Amino acid sequence: MRFRTKRKKRCIIACIAVVILGGMQFVPVQRNKSSGMSSSDFMNVYQVPDAIQNKLRVACYDCHSNNTRYSWYNNIQPVAWLLERHVSLGKAELDFSVWKDYSVRRKRTKLKSIISQIDEGAMPLSTYTLLHRDAVFSKEEKELVLEWLQQLRDSL
Ligand code: HEC
Repeated sequence: MRFRTKRKKRCIIACIAVVILGGMQFVPVQRNKSSGMSSSDFMNVYQVPDAIQNKLRVACYDCHSNNTRYSWYNNIQPVAWLLERHVSLGKAELDFSVWKDYSVRRKRTKLKSIISQIDEGAMPLSTYTLLHRDAVFSKEEKELVLEWLQQLRDSL
């Protein structure tokens, strides 16, 4: 008897969860996608080697630029909300799309921060790399990207 009421309870909880998740799907989210790359974009300000461009785009641009690539699962709640939140918080800290508009001092500080975030493995966020395996830095990629960024920082 006790076993059956427990199962019934679980069933009710599951039903409620399905209804809530279902309802969430109808709430619209804001998309972070401008047409094309802005002329102020980091990649337009410097001559960035292809390998480094690709890595930064894949690993950072979804949250730190005006051009998020949306996959099918990004349309599903609560993933869509989580991404929307990451994008607004991420862009507030660092926005590669407006790099040209940062002062030299700001550029230096941001580069320092970018280097340490990648070096420590704090960025890209681990909740992100769970789904985006290609954003993970291999040891070689890390060395390559960090060396280039450090050179850029020294040259400013
Ligand atoms: C899934 C979204 C996401 C991705 C991908 C991502 N970031 Fe972030 N980033 C954030 C958020 C959100 C914040 C602000 C909150 C925080 O610090 O956790 C942030 C903060 C930062 C900061 C400021 C941190 C500080 O405390 O000074 C830097 C620098 C940064 N990110 C660099 C990067 C770089 C470089 C990459 C790519 C290698 C990257 N991020 C990838 C979401 C992301």
